[in-house]
Amino acid sequence: MKVAHVIGARPQFIKYYPVSKALGEACGSGGLKEILVHTGQHYDYVMSKVFFDEFGIREPDYHLGVGSGSHGSQTARVIEGVEGVLSKEGPDAVLLYGDTNSTLGGAIAASKLHLRVLHVEAGLRSFNKHMPEEINRILADNVSSVLFCPSEKAVENLRAEGFGNVINGGLLVPSDFAEAIRADADAPVVINVGDVMQDAVYHSLQIVASRPPVCTALGLTARDYIVMTLHRAENTDKIENFEEIVEFSNVASAGKTVVFPMHPRTQKAYELSKERFAGNVRVIGPLGYFDMIGLVRDSLFVMTDSGGLQKEACWLQVPCVTLRGETEWVETIGVGCNVLYRDFKGLPPRGEFSTDIYGDGKAAVRIALVLKNLL
Ligand code: UD1
Repeated sequence: MKVAHVIGARPQFIKYYPVSKALGEACGSGGLKEILVHTGQHYDYVMSKVFFDEFGIREPDYHLGVGSGSHGSQTARVIEGVEGVLSKEGPDAVLLYGDTNSTLGGAIAASKLHLRVLHVEAGLRSFNKHMPEEINRILADNVSSVLFCPSEKAVENLRAEGFGNVINGGLLVPSDFAEAIRADADAPVVINVGDVMQDAVYHSLQIVASRPPVCTALGLTARDYIVMTLHRAENTDKIENFEEIVEFSNVASAGKTVVFPMHPRTQKAYELSKERFAGNVRVIGPLGYFDMIGLVRDSLFVMTDSGGLQKEACWLQVPCVTLRGETEWVETIGVGCNVLYRDFKGLPPRGEFSTDIYGDGKAAVRIALVLKNLL
């Protein structure tokens, strides 16, 4: 079987790693050929290569060098580049991850070539179509043949949109799930496998545990600082939203040091509003994955507009405040780990948050088994 993976932005390198590893283990080298396509949506060392180095991901077979641009031009370049690769390679399946412009471009190119699209992290909905990611998810899901959901809620969202072919009633399938699945774009299959990011976190924790704490290198004491990230277009591109969040973070941090690893997108808004930040905010560059996990693990709490970080905080038993008007990861709020900033009345108490809301850290094994038995 020949499988193409299309990745291009930071969270996709993290999601790809456990899937490719599990595929190799499930299929062995004999029966499987993987084609790795990097769109080049993210291109800086700190946004891309560092993740390849940390996870030991091999060089991509194709690097499309798409780079930055408006949604239209960036997505168009992805479509054109991916179409070229897939036409040449003719894979049996194309794996797409998450909700970026690389996901959407890959989905359009693959589906128009009548290839089977397999979407990892399907069914997520924020119900806010002002988010580019929401558009990307809806469109990618609608041309997918296999929709790998991270949760029952994601399955429910798809059911509400008319996807009726749901495996195991939408419950997490067993980790030795070996049913043969027949799927194509006209009969898409929805399957709850759990979240591959949990696999990545559990893998990383072992590595992080063997390293000195990141906070020590920053001169900070564990549980005495807050981690903030902010990069969503809805927050960085509208200065009034950005400043509302800055005001909030100044109050919520109550004088504790706020470590702020800054995404390149945020730079412009930061320069415009620098003086609004209280003096306790410490801006640093983007971190590699292991350093980020280590920094979050030891923090007092997290403030973020990232989707991944909301879940990572939960798995690491660290309270989270989400710097958005809504979240698609509603289960994190349900278990008491996460609160939306406009609902903030005090920090969620630190505690034993339930970590089984997105499966059990073996999502990639399930995905690999489905692929192995795909008819
Ligand atoms: C993208 C995803 C978002 C994801 C995020 C993770 C879309 C629509 N959004 O947002 O869902 O959470 O990745 O990081 O796909 N830039 C650099 N260096 C890089 C990459 C980007 O400087 O290596 C700068 C450029 O100025 C660029 C801006 O960041 O214009 C935004 O990059 P882009 O890839 O368009 O979207 P992200 O905001 O990173």
